[in-house]
Amino acid sequence: MKKTILCIGAGYVGGPTMAVIADKCPDYKVIVVDVNEKRIKAWQSDELPIYEPGLDEVVRRARGRNLFFSTDVVAGIKEAGIIFVSVNTPTKTFGAGAGKAADLQYWEKTARDIIEHSGHDKIVVEKSTLPVRTAEAMRRILESNTKGLNFDIISNPEFMAEGTAVGDLQHPDRVLIGALETPSGQKALQAIKDIYLNWVPEERIKTTNLWSSELTKLVSNAMLAQRISSVNSISALCEKTDANILEVSSAMGLDSRIGPKFLRASIGFGGSCFKKDILNLVYLCEFYGLPEVAAYWEQVVKINDYQAERFVRKILMNMFNSVAGKKIAVFGFAFKADTGDTRESPAITVSKMLLEERAVLSIHDPKALENARLDLADCPGEISYHEDPYEAAAGTHAILVLTEWKQFRDYDYRKIFEVMEKPAFIFDGRNILDHRALFEQGFNVYPLGQREYSHLT
Ligand code: NAD
Ligand code: UGA
Repeated sequence: MKKTILCIGAGYVGGPTMAVIADKCPDYKVIVVDVNEKRIKAWQSDELPIYEPGLDEVVRRARGRNLFFSTDVVAGIKEAGIIFVSVNTPTKTFGAGAGKAADLQYWEKTARDIIEHSGHDKIVVEKSTLPVRTAEAMRRILESNTKGLNFDIISNPEFMAEGTAVGDLQHPDRVLIGALETPSGQKALQAIKDIYLNWVPEERIKTTNLWSSELTKLVSNAMLAQRISSVNSISALCEKTDANILEVSSAMGLDSRIGPKFLRASIGFGGSCFKKDILNLVYLCEFYGLPEVAAYWEQVVKINDYQAERFVRKILMNMFNSVAGKKIAVFGFAFKADTGDTRESPAITVSKMLLEERAVLSIHDPKALENARLDLADCPGEISYHEDPYEAAAGTHAILVLTEWKQFRDYDYRKIFEVMEKPAFIFDGRNILDHRALFEQGFNVYPLGQREYSHLT
């Protein structure tokens, strides 16, 4: 083997990223470690800990050949020359900056493990999403080692999206690598670039200074989320004016300067990163004395909260101002299609608000039921979970579409209508169903940012 790469953190990023590196670079040994024993056991088994289309094949090809999963963090640090750090960096929930700043305790712990167990020089790669200038803190910690070791810090943020992670990693729009502009920093940068050159065309590998790379990651997520909040804010205006958000988005997206992607109106963006990364950006702007810039980006999160609340208000208003005791089916709990991940899913917000209104919930999702159970475990109220959509819909007054799973379009809504209470409602929070056809079958249908189809008015 040419070199040994270690990745600390076997989560949604560490697992798939390292599996693709091992698959594409058979002459590198890739070890992925985590303190979470259950997760590592799952990575070693046929039941991977995350659902990601195409991941099973990639892992199967490389595992045991040059890809290894382990809980032995110390042995991994001792052996590897390159260490990717891909631990979680959630929003801080305590002390200074609580609710906005990134909680870097897991990050700092890995830096300390690296110093303690390293016996030779290493390249440390920031794979986690971090506040700009984190590498400076990392450098100070690593340089405090008394063994005379040299550590080069590289920023190599990850841009993959869940549900499409394998394709994103195999064919990235760009790979970003940031380094200090010193001879040692540039040599380390080349070592990381050499890994990606095994499958990524050179023109797609963008190199920058460390701070630009760290900041680009935060801003890329903020810009994507900002497009969604922009469109969602306009969906509210569409509902007041008989304009149609689908027509507005597609006509607007034809402008090559705007482009068609990320203009789908929804009940709001979810996922573990958009909200946390924007709040982190807001915190940084406040920290650097830029309150107007902070307020600008904070508004993206406020509109996102508003959109989910607006959706629940619409349900209440149209269901005669009360859902108490009424059974409501939630179709889709994952934060987006093709994943079982429910972190920050808008379905959690909507479900909790409806439970507060004393609705009875019946939840259906093709991949996220296990996580849904955990998310709602402490919520008072009656909740049931169903693999089968028809079983979930039985005896309900309304169906809410909260995730854009393609299969929801193919369900037999005539059959569903028959087993529901009447009047039967559908609130399509993702605009994926055929609203007119459903109306003709007897449903009262409420899309987002489009005219409603109601038999009641
Ligand atoms: P995750 O929570 O799924 O995984 C992180 C893993 O790190 C956990 O399994 C945890 O047990 C492990 N860990 C924490 N401290 C450790 C330690 N000291 N030693 C060993 N293992 C340790 O998180 P994730 O979704 O993979 O995200 C990781 C980072 O990547 C975050 O900064 C996130 O913002 C960023 N990111 C995530 C995505 C995504 O799609 N999820 C995409 C791009 C970037
Ligand atoms: C996002 C980014 O797309 C990735 O580039 C980034 O690496 C990642 O965050 C991260 O840093 O964690 P992800 O959250 O996995 O990826 O998924 P997205 O496809 O971006 O969707 C995020 C949310 O926005 C979902 O809830 C989705 O349903 C919603 N969305 C997306 C919309 O509501 N409308 C759209 O037009 C697009």
